[in-house]
Amino acid sequence: MTALIASAPGKAILFGEHAVVYGQPAVAIPVMQVKAKASIFPIISALPEEIHIEAPDIHLNGNLSALPEGHPIRLLISLIAVELNAAKLPPFHLKISSSIPVAAGLGSGAAISIAVIRALSAFLGRPLPNERVSALAYEIERIYHGNPSGIDNTVIAYAQPILFVRGQPFELLHANHPLTFILADSGLKSATSQVVNQVRTAREEEPQRYDRIFSTIGEISRQGCRELQAGSPQRLGVLMDENHACLQEISVSCREVDHLVTAARAAGAYGAKVSGAGQGGNMIALAPQEQGEAIAAALQKAGAVRTIITYLLPSP
Ligand code: PMV
Repeated sequence: MTALIASAPGKAILFGEHAVVYGQPAVAIPVMQVKAKASIFPIISALPEEIHIEAPDIHLNGNLSALPEGHPIRLLISLIAVELNAAKLPPFHLKISSSIPVAAGLGSGAAISIAVIRALSAFLGRPLPNERVSALAYEIERIYHGNPSGIDNTVIAYAQPILFVRGQPFELLHANHPLTFILADSGLKSATSQVVNQVRTAREEEPQRYDRIFSTIGEISRQGCRELQAGSPQRLGVLMDENHACLQEISVSCREVDHLVTAARAAGAYGAKVSGAGQGGNMIALAPQEQGEAIAAALQKAGAVRTIITYLLPSP
């Protein structure tokens, strides 16, 4: 048996984070410039079901059986075995690596799950369709995030822009013009589950105000979806600014991210906003074509620890 390698991209939320947890629509795009990779090598072992895990990014190098029962990688491998009715797994070595920054709103957890699901199901001779890959990754997202909407695992499994509403079939989106986005990392790590919990607590205290803001965000996502597919980058940028203002109102932004948002706009971006859970992590800016590099440089000067330029291109 030869080694099996699978990878999965990062993602960015263009519109609708947080509101999507409460049933509002959101728009997400894949970020193909970063990826998680899983490689599986068969090994010869006297021990049945010997599984060796090597994940240098999280300082893991040892036998699966030595990991705590509730460890996400252990759970993921047993979920895949159950899905494929594999009563016994052959011995193998699993290597996981990722260039997706962790706790930065770029979907690193979901991408790792998806790369592992694809590699292991192919290794076992039963590659899973995107729908099942996404559903299994969602189970693991629930451990990381508590109450995930499912947007991360969906956009990463399909690796295409999507309009996503929790509990409903998603829609694949097609940009009608080339779009250049810059992601800029504030350098502040932010745990999605923590920010999602904070928003939940705040909403419990002021349900009407929060639901009003969430439905405004939902309307922005719908309009954003129309502008992406049949409108103009300028109007898309205005909607990103409007979405950012809503996220500020629910305390999902922070000084460092606001500073980057302001710097992107000053450098000529059409619009900019928090992307993902917020209170740190990344912001996303939409740049006029050919100005991506200049805006990325301005963001680095303003303190971004990392910038990624990513594109959406119209289908041929
Ligand atoms: O994983 P993050 O940080 O991109 O957050 C995902 C977006 C949220 O709406 C905040 C949470 C969710 O599950 O949709």
